[in-house]
Amino acid sequence: MRDLKFFKIMGEKVPCLGMGTWRIGGGFLSPDYSMDREWIAVLRRGLELGMTLIDTAEVYGGGHAEELVGEAIKGFPRDEIFIVSKVWPDNATRKGVLKATKASVKRLGTYIDLYLLHWPAEGVPICETMKAMEELVDKGLVRHIGLSNFEVKEIEKARNCLSKVDIAAVQNRHSLMYRRYEKDVIPYCAREGMMFMSYTPLEKGLLARDRFLAEIGEKYGKTAAQVALNWLICIEPVVAIPKAARLSHLEENAGAMGWRLSREDWELISRKFRQYLY
Ligand SMILES: NC(=O)c1ccc[n+]([C@@H]2O[C@H](COP(=O)([O-])OP(=O)(O)OC[C@H]3O[C@@H](n4cnc5c(N)ncnc54)[C@H](OP(=O)(O)O)[C@@H]3O)[C@@H](O)[C@H]2O)c1
Repeated sequence: MRDLKFFKIMGEKVPCLGMGTWRIGGGFLSPDYSMDREWIAVLRRGLELGMTLIDTAEVYGGGHAEELVGEAIKGFPRDEIFIVSKVWPDNATRKGVLKATKASVKRLGTYIDLYLLHWPAEGVPICETMKAMEELVDKGLVRHIGLSNFEVKEIEKARNCLSKVDIAAVQNRHSLMYRRYEKDVIPYCAREGMMFMSYTPLEKGLLARDRFLAEIGEKYGKTAAQVALNWLICIEPVVAIPKAARLSHLEENAGAMGWRLSREDWELISRKFRQYLY
């Protein structure tokens, strides 16, 4: 049975539950500074509660999300935090990747633990991007590399371009209401020793209002959101990254760790949401 607290990526431990940052610090390419204090406080609380994996991207808030992450981690031991960031496909050329990474590292004020290509890039050969990402590891700007929104065939193509490092993680959409990757990408990652990061794991909060999950949760003294997240992290090699800008949500989500749904309940939930496998 998998350890529901930590996942081992390339031999090191990361928590099974991290923090997303989409819409913390603004929207797509547009910064918002109005709630910086609150956002930093939420991220810091998450770190205290053991959600030491933080997912961000250069496009979130036009880079401001990365700046907030950089602020939030101050004073925490850097080697106990795992920062994930992403390069947007518009910057997928070698030159673009190197420039984008330097800018992200500057905003974060630190190296990146895992750097992902955010989406497959049209018009740039995947090997150009992958080789540039390998260079980043050589330069010490990035520790591991990975892919986001990729199918198995595309992952294999990307891996074939690499000669020094391998893909450490894949981040795709995955929740009880979005399960198509359970058929291919997730088992592939499990087999190949890669982490699978489930994004939008609460379906933007919809699953937190699910009555069936709330009923199951009553047995454990847990909420629907906690059940939805626990269900995900029971799957090897899933690490879920819910986003919470509200402190109450953040604290509730942290309570999805440290306990486990019974096998029977896990299967019952799986059957209830089976239509989302297709
Ligand atoms: N790689 C990609 O292409 C990609 C795409 C999308 C997302 N992501 C990453 O994945 C992260 C998570 O995905 P997401 O932000 O799309 O969706 P999500 O985590 O499924 O949902 C976030 C929404 O749910 C609410 N929420 C959080 N916890 C809750 C709780 N316990 N009860 C009720 N509502 C709750 C949040 O409200 P409040 O904020 O008001 O607390 C927010 O509105 C993102 O932040 C981002 O880091 C990656």
